[in-house]
Amino acid sequence: MKRIKAIYPGSFDPPTNGHLDLIERGSKIFDELIVAILRNPEKDPLFSVADRRKMLEAMTAGFDNVSVDTFEGLTVDYALRVEAQAILRGIRAISDYEYELQMALMNRKIQPGLETVFMMPAEKYSYVSSRLVREVAQLGGSIDCLVPELVGQKLREKMDVAHKFENGEQLAGKTHSEGKSKSRKKKL
Ligand code: PNS
Repeated sequence: MKRIKAIYPGSFDPPTNGHLDLIERGSKIFDELIVAILRNPEKDPLFSVADRRKMLEAMTAGFDNVSVDTFEGLTVDYALRVEAQAILRGIRAISDYEYELQMALMNRKIQPGLETVFMMPAEKYSYVSSRLVREVAQLGGSIDCLVPELVGQKLREKMDVAHKFENGEQLAGKTHSEGKSKSRKKKL
């Protein structure tokens, strides 16, 4: 009997409850699902690839047919390397659709044998994105229901380090704005 292997590629910076919801749904329809974290040297992420991998591994430990991996380059090339037949992506709202359709069609143009499968996460996660989670956490809002507990803890640790860094810079005689690192300001 043919076994269907799929990859679920993404940035996962950080992984959210929406991602987890999709992983659970994907694990039910595919025989094997690989959560594939993109290693993008051009991006300045909040969490390192190693941290994201650890978080996703902990989040998916309960699923026998789910594993976590990282990749660089084209998603379709990675899918071929691991012999996957499908790419899983989540669509939360119509606003996601245009970008996702464009990616799916481009991927199909490059690799016609590979199918993209869209799934919808639970409605309660339809507004949850990694970008908004990072922003809410930075501004001191609660992200408790948006991410798994472990991710929430890691985010709080990041914020503590950022605050200590700012205070340390100020104590060292710099002004508030001088104390803020440009890249940190952008990515938190
Ligand atoms: O979680 P994200 O950031 O929405 O994931 C986007 C991702 C990683 C799936 C997309 O950027 C991607 O596939 N990047 C790898 C490079 C690639 O294949 N580009 C062509 C896409 S059509």
